[in-house]
Amino acid sequence: MKVLFVCLGNICRSPMAEAIFNHKIQKLNLQHLISADSCGTGNYHIGSQPDPRTIKTAEKNGVEIWHQARQLTTADLEKFDYLFAMDQQNLKNILRLPDADKYAQKIKLMREYDPQGPGDVPDPYYGTLHDFQYVFEMLDRSLDEFISTEIKL
Ligand code: 4NP
Repeated sequence: MKVLFVCLGNICRSPMAEAIFNHKIQKLNLQHLISADSCGTGNYHIGSQPDPRTIKTAEKNGVEIWHQARQLTTADLEKFDYLFAMDQQNLKNILRLPDADKYAQKIKLMREYDPQGPGDVPDPYYGTLHDFQYVFEMLDRSLDEFISTEIKL
């Protein structure tokens, strides 16, 4: 199974989701079966490392993070089994790709799986470290729910 996390810049929310998900998959010893990647709908940060606050927050919570930002492509629709948009705008942008309607059933909002959702994963870019921790916790519980409902252990 291949899972893609999508946000705008690919330096805050989606690389954090990818890192948290990979951490959980490694703990379950499922890394030979399940992999994750992340990307952005925008092109501003292509090639960049995650925002320093993303790295700091992940590491403070015991999650290793490594990613180089890239932009969403049409090929991602075919390649991944789940594409998770962090917010409504990201979702709209994914659905604008050519032929996206063919893949609509695998394109979801991340917080469809949040026990405290639904809603957007808010963009923390103009916020503080506190906002990054808030996003971390939202992703952490959403990904626990996704794993327990969709991944047969
Ligand atoms: P992300 O956050 O979509 O969670 O990676 C953002 C990062 C950068 C920008 C916007 C959102 N930006 O406008 O540069």
